[in-house]
Amino acid sequence: MKTKTNSTLPRVFYIPIDRRRFFRSMAIASAGFTLRGYLAEALTISPTVTQGPYYPLANNIPLDKDNDLVQVNDSLTIAAGVVSYVTGRVLDGSGNPIRGALVELWHADREGDYLYSTSATRNPACDPNFAGFGQFLTGASGEFKFRTIKAGLYNGRTRHFHWGVTIPGQLSRITTQTGWNEVALDLNGNKWATQNSNDNVFSTVSDAAQRASMLPDFTAVPGTTTGEEQANWDYVVGQTPVEPTYPNNGGLVVAGAVVAGANGGTPRFKITVPAYKGYSYEVYGNPTLGRLSWSALPFSLTQTGAIDRNIFTATSDGALDLFVDQKAFKGFYYVSFRVPGANTGTPGSGAAGGGPAGAGGPPPGRG
Ligand SMILES: [Fe+2]
Repeated sequence: MKTKTNSTLPRVFYIPIDRRRFFRSMAIASAGFTLRGYLAEALTISPTVTQGPYYPLANNIPLDKDNDLVQVNDSLTIAAGVVSYVTGRVLDGSGNPIRGALVELWHADREGDYLYSTSATRNPACDPNFAGFGQFLTGASGEFKFRTIKAGLYNGRTRHFHWGVTIPGQLSRITTQTGWNEVALDLNGNKWATQNSNDNVFSTVSDAAQRASMLPDFTAVPGTTTGEEQANWDYVVGQTPVEPTYPNNGGLVVAGAVVAGANGGTPRFKITVPAYKGYSYEVYGNPTLGRLSWSALPFSLTQTGAIDRNIFTATSDGALDLFVDQKAFKGFYYVSFRVPGANTGTPGSGAAGGGPAGAGGPPPGRG
């Protein structure tokens, strides 16, 4: 899957901070927000709005679906646009953090083009250095984080992110959108025709507190010299998680065994878990990070075969071997499982469903 090498890529932007520093800095930045959900104030449930037509389909979900949308695999060239960080927590209606929630983010690139529409192939108009879609699996704190760019504008909508979350025990993804609490300006600095006040998603949320909760403030990252922005936003779901009870609350922390990789190349890491027929398995981890770092990793079912999937539904009971290229923090991986019938994280499959097309995305013909 890593067919591109760094030397073949144009070096338009060199990443100003490496991932390690990014995640460390975000952990510090988010620390100030950790008490928010415990305050006595009533929480505002994040309104469920259309998923829109641009959630990836089962046959085109990108293998690079980690929580860094600014960088495709380990390319040195990052996406064009204002680098933006979003941190927050998945909370239930009482403010309790939800563990094991699959948080998904997808949005248009700087020019307003999505990664996919209805095609299995990547939209050629979309910035090749923009991942376009990412996932994060929450730990006990419910926290998530993403690095991405400021979403671009397209006709009919103001600037927005699409969010999905699937919480343990629930069979489907719920979706919402967030925007920017500001006047939307196009790339030439002109006022965009569609603002929050007349956008066909934000303006139709009638509850003022709910609407306000969809429009977090983005502020400059302290010390940034490149205009990076950040926001903190909690996804407050109106559902109650039901933890799968077997084998271990929806996930297992498993050590990876080093094995030879394909063609005598770099080693792979073999992860073995007890599998149950019909359960769907995904691997999370991070090359350098500890806490708060469970982002999705693609894998192979064989030691030397192509890294070609990011989810597998077991067809029988027994030990399941999964092989990943990425070395995880201290060699440990988090293998999540979803019970039969749940939204497995594979887009477009059955229960996950799709929202009505149109309201959430560009008009036909616009990627
Ligand atoms: Fe959209």
